[in-house]
Amino acid sequence: MAGSIEAYFDSVAEDYDSHKRAGWYQAHGELVLGLAGELPAGARVLDIGCGTGHLLRRMATDQPAIEALGVDLSARMVAVARATGAAHPGLRFEQMDWESPGAPARVEGTGFDLVTCLNCAHYFADPVGAFRRMRHALRPGGRLLLLDRARDGAPATALLGLLHRHLLRDRVRFHAAGDLARMVREAGFAEVRIAARVRRWAWKGKLVTSLAVIQAQASPHTFREDHS
Ligand SMILES: C[S@@+](CC[C@H](N)C(=O)[O-])C[C@H]1O[C@@H](n2cnc3c(N)ncnc32)[C@H](O)[C@@H]1O
Repeated sequence: MAGSIEAYFDSVAEDYDSHKRAGWYQAHGELVLGLAGELPAGARVLDIGCGTGHLLRRMATDQPAIEALGVDLSARMVAVARATGAAHPGLRFEQMDWESPGAPARVEGTGFDLVTCLNCAHYFADPVGAFRRMRHALRPGGRLLLLDRARDGAPATALLGLLHRHLLRDRVRFHAAGDLARMVREAGFAEVRIAARVRRWAWKGKLVTSLAVIQAQASPHTFREDHS
């Protein structure tokens, strides 16, 4: 199944940043960057499911002193990210299935100040496990910003979810905002809250948008009890 997701994103990688939806995805990046705010010089950022790396490029343009790593399942997405991010010395990109065991250990250990994950959670077969790995990648007190489509308040997204579940029978699952927050909490994060919601009939060239951004903190107390 990860293979078909990978194949799909391999096939769209070259056009991802020029596609008519690109502005929509970039607007998600702006939303998350606004919530991330100014990071200290040398801050380490990990973007999971980074795609073509547009979020990290934008972040590095505004804050050149950050050190950031983007990881993605699709080798072609990573190739585009490397090529377009080459002007930013603080950026690196690696091909990786975040759902594979030991994924955090493979991203040069832990200690990230900020983990971001945009429009990727609905592909995870085991979201709680994936969120737990994100917690392991963070330093104690580090922050998670997770953005995904939320199916509540969005009949079109809910319908698309049913199509995936019952007709396509793949693993794509759109979650309600409250369920995303609950799963992040279940993964051991503290201070979990829905930091932003966007519910619009028309937004950035796309009809019907329902997004949730979950913000959470890797609590020092729950940091190292498992390392899947
Ligand atoms: C819809 S794109 C979003 C890309 C980017 N974050 C954005 O918002 O524009 C989803 C990305 O998640 C990646 N992805 C899906 N499952 C993944 C996994 N298990 N590990 C790493 N990346 C994954 C896909 O390859 C794809 O590039």
